[in-house]
Amino acid sequence: MIERTLVLLKPDAVQRCIAGEILTRFERAGLKIVGLKMVWIDKDFSKEHYAAHVDKAFYKGLEEFITLGPVIAICYEGVSAVEVVRKIVGPTEPKTAPPGTIRGDYAHHSYHFTDKKGKAIRNLIHASGNPEEAKVEVALWFKETDLHTYGTVHDGHVL
Ligand code: CDP
Ligand code: MG
Repeated sequence: MIERTLVLLKPDAVQRCIAGEILTRFERAGLKIVGLKMVWIDKDFSKEHYAAHVDKAFYKGLEEFITLGPVIAICYEGVSAVEVVRKIVGPTEPKTAPPGTIRGDYAHHSYHFTDKKGKAIRNLIHASGNPEEAKVEVALWFKETDLHTYGTVHDGHVL
């Protein structure tokens, strides 16, 4: 039940200087940071991370987007962390992401708008989609020795 999941604050979140506000949302929910780093990935790494999307029409724009500046990579740990993080992040398209979610609160544009421009939808965050994806992505972004086991105040309240 205790899972680890990968979150990326994409280049738009970093360049808009809202990393702290976004991290606060996960922190408030009691998720534990077990790994964190800033990385400027290249196109090869993008193809590894987005292996499932490389053949899709939107991939070219996505690669341009994810490599345009550094991202902040975080490995979170918590009860059903994969699902809980996705709930906090919200649906992929900011236009349809409800208020209260990160994508719904900090962006508003649509696939319709970005597809016409041939650009990726700038939706601030990446979050692993399911537990299998999370295992692969955490291993891709973090060495086991860079992930930490420690207690937080939440451990006493939820475990
Ligand atoms: O990030 P998420 O898992 O919610 O969505 P995805 O379907 O795995 O797509 C990965 C990323 O590709 C999205 O977060 C968008 O940034 C981008 N994307 C896009 O620009 N246009 C699409 N039609 C679909 C995805
Ligand atoms: Mg995905």
